[in-house]
Amino acid sequence: MKTKNFFLVAFCFALLSVTSFAQESKTAPQIFLIGDSTMADKPLADNPERGWGQLLPIFFDKSVSIKNHAVNGRSTKSFIDEGRWNTVLSQLKKDDWVFIQFGHNDEKKEDPTRYAAPQTGYKNNLTRFVNDVRAKGANPILLTPVMRRRFDAQGKFFDTHEDYPAVVRSLAKDLKVPLIDLHRTTQTLIEDHGIEGSKQIFLHIAAGAYKSLPEGKIDDTHFSEYGAKKVAGLVVANLRSTFSPLAQYLLTVPTTALNQTVTVQVDKPGASISGHQFGVFFEDINFGADGGIYAELIKNRSFEFPDALMGWKKIDANAKGEMKILEHENAKNNLHFVRLKNDLNSSGFGIANNGFRGIGVAQNARYNFSVQARNISRKPINLRLELINASGQKIAQAAIKNISGDWKNYEAILKASATEPKATLNVIVESGNEVDLDMVSLFPQNTWKGRKNGLRADMVQLLAEMKPAFVRFPGGCIVEGRNIEERYQWKTTIGDPAERKLIVNRWNMEFLSRNPQRAASDYFQSFGLGFYEYFLLCEDIGAEPLPILNCGMACQFNSKELVPLNQLDPYIQDALDLIEFANGSILTKWGKVRAELGHPAPFNMKLLGVGNEQWGPQYIERYQEFAQVLKKKAPNVALVTSAGPSPAGELFKFLWEKLREQKADIIDEHYYQSPQWFYDNVHRYDNYPRTGPKVFAGEYAAHVSEKGRPDRPNNWEAALAEAALITGLERNADLVTMASYAPLFGNVDAWQWSPNLIWVDTLHSFGTPSYYVQKMFSLNQGTQILPVKINGEIKQEGLYASAVKDTRSNEVVVKLVNAGTNKNEVSLDLAGLSAIASSKAITLTAPELKAENSLSAPQKVAPTEQTLKITTSKFKYELPANSFVVLRFKLKN
Ligand code: AHR
Repeated sequence: MKTKNFFLVAFCFALLSVTSFAQESKTAPQIFLIGDSTMADKPLADNPERGWGQLLPIFFDKSVSIKNHAVNGRSTKSFIDEGRWNTVLSQLKKDDWVFIQFGHNDEKKEDPTRYAAPQTGYKNNLTRFVNDVRAKGANPILLTPVMRRRFDAQGKFFDTHEDYPAVVRSLAKDLKVPLIDLHRTTQTLIEDHGIEGSKQIFLHIAAGAYKSLPEGKIDDTHFSEYGAKKVAGLVVANLRSTFSPLAQYLLTVPTTALNQTVTVQVDKPGASISGHQFGVFFEDINFGADGGIYAELIKNRSFEFPDALMGWKKIDANAKGEMKILEHENAKNNLHFVRLKNDLNSSGFGIANNGFRGIGVAQNARYNFSVQARNISRKPINLRLELINASGQKIAQAAIKNISGDWKNYEAILKASATEPKATLNVIVESGNEVDLDMVSLFPQNTWKGRKNGLRADMVQLLAEMKPAFVRFPGGCIVEGRNIEERYQWKTTIGDPAERKLIVNRWNMEFLSRNPQRAASDYFQSFGLGFYEYFLLCEDIGAEPLPILNCGMACQFNSKELVPLNQLDPYIQDALDLIEFANGSILTKWGKVRAELGHPAPFNMKLLGVGNEQWGPQYIERYQEFAQVLKKKAPNVALVTSAGPSPAGELFKFLWEKLREQKADIIDEHYYQSPQWFYDNVHRYDNYPRTGPKVFAGEYAAHVSEKGRPDRPNNWEAALAEAALITGLERNADLVTMASYAPLFGNVDAWQWSPNLIWVDTLHSFGTPSYYVQKMFSLNQGTQILPVKINGEIKQEGLYASAVKDTRSNEVVVKLVNAGTNKNEVSLDLAGLSAIASSKAITLTAPELKAENSLSAPQKVAPTEQTLKITTSKFKYELPANSFVVLRFKLKN
């Protein structure tokens, strides 16, 4: 009884503390700012100056109250002496925060009321602030003083703060206080803006621009509104990247003004566009091909992995028998097979394979088993086949009878009596027999278009529903290989699957040293999904094929091996042969191969990638060799070239410059960046030159950093930021002619890279919020860009918009992204539109930015469609908080 009471009390106590924790965690903290004029609030009227603390509140949700106690001209000393610190302390509560930033005035030796020597007075005062804050149960943050804008006669930036920033840094370390090093980050900010550009951060005010400043003003210490917002943004970026508890209160984008009018100039259409901008990027990464879309259920089916028995084990360790790997005579690519010998009187000897992290089978579905086998006993041999579920029960059985003495193919069908995501296949030899086996294979009968040994129906279905304009394949880094030997070679991926030369997947050990959990020692490329199947897939789903070929460079993140320029001919020949394979008549050598594989009609390939994500002069030299030949022999095939792995910087600039000189057709840019970067780059392409190469946004995804989530979640926050950026791609669709998210697939049990567009397990697949964003853009394209302005301005922030006219269907389509945390009623003006026949809205939103889809809730974030009753060209439309909305207007004639 006593014990019972104890548990009851303990339970109530636990419940109480959970409840009080829940209540406590709901109360947002107060943030106190103490510092000098660079941080302080300034009068708004007729005054261009702002403190960065004044702009900080726009980054936080309204529950956080920010109390800016910073005052012009104050040092640590005068702030204390004037009793200001005591005022702050009297308001400070447990769990509040205090941001401490001084230095500019502590440096003033000539003024004894303010001067505090760095190593003594300044340090002591900062220490006092920290200790007092902690004594109240609140949290201090130390900030180094912001930089002044100073360039010497040679244009070199220099600092004026002497020892003060170093004191703050070492104090933060000694007292274990979070540090925001604005001294460093504002230097970068100023330098990145350059000598001229950085004037806008400070006060360079022309005479007469403000009544209060008739003579104008030049001040390189205090901030303009632009500068203050940038500096506040640096503080916010630090809170995010250090996973500060305050990050939970940050908005995705700063609060912007409401009452916005979006004007779509229907009467002044811009450039004509293809209406085929959005495609997909396919790579065999994350078990996307083997263990993914290629429906083969058996791993290492032909015993060609370097560890030839990897994936296989004896069914019963006690059963007596032998299992050994032998080599075929005169074999080319399929070198090995397994020999099984079941000892007399031993039952149940055989081998088992559990597929790619399990074999997924569905109740009542049928599975095609096949095997190449040879009987080396003197009497007829039978094989027993079983599918076993995770609890060891048999859920399917079949047999192969009378295996003869020559190598032959045998088939059987297994029908599953129950659904099991992690089944095992047993292949059992009857006792007293000896048999050789190779190419042990199991496929669902339910494949895409019912093709025998084809692709996973559910995965292709998700692709088909996106109606992608193109499929880029086969990657990605696997095109390059870790070294030249392990590069992707299309010719070894066609024809008899048993003869396709298996190689290691580049993602097999990519993460071995950095993140061993993500390495996959069992990741190889069987090429069951090879170039012919890729072309068929493109044809099936109406997408242009965009193969990418190795250009004589191995992955520059790995071995960096280069094929000498004078040995590139075979690589260029591979490209010419591929063009012939795809487009040549059946009278040509490679056109005939295509016809023999079952496709006499050409695939009509129009795009070809030369190299994947290469960079440096080595790439340019190699591209030139390819281009010289390909432009002559296949002028109708546009070549896709690389802008390297980053969306900016020296490598990127170099490639653009050189490829522009080379008159490259299409340049492939990659950006795996934070959601903030996506918002900041909405106008990225507005000012790109319109002559010269087109842009292919070939690999991109917003990467969210979240503590405890090494997988970088595929959440609504990421997808919404992507939607904002894509409005920018669409507004510039005359230049950015192609775009694809990357990577495409991730196996939940075997991924190396995240986020991905679609996740799968052995039986199911689901689209992420990013998938639905891609799909909404893809299904709502147009043939003419319609210029958009928000409140008369091109510049967009917080609310993002693009619009197109689809002359094929006579519709106007407007896309709107509300990145704000409040609903936003916008006024729309479809200028010049006379009569609307019908209209509808497709809305994608979620109650919280962290929302994700999953195997158990695959459509938590999914679009909904509503018919609208809009008939006039001017109307109001309420965008839900954090939403992406597509409005379609069917025009009367
Ligand atoms: O999409 C994942 C990888 O990112 C690709 O293989 C490569 O091209 C890029 O670095």
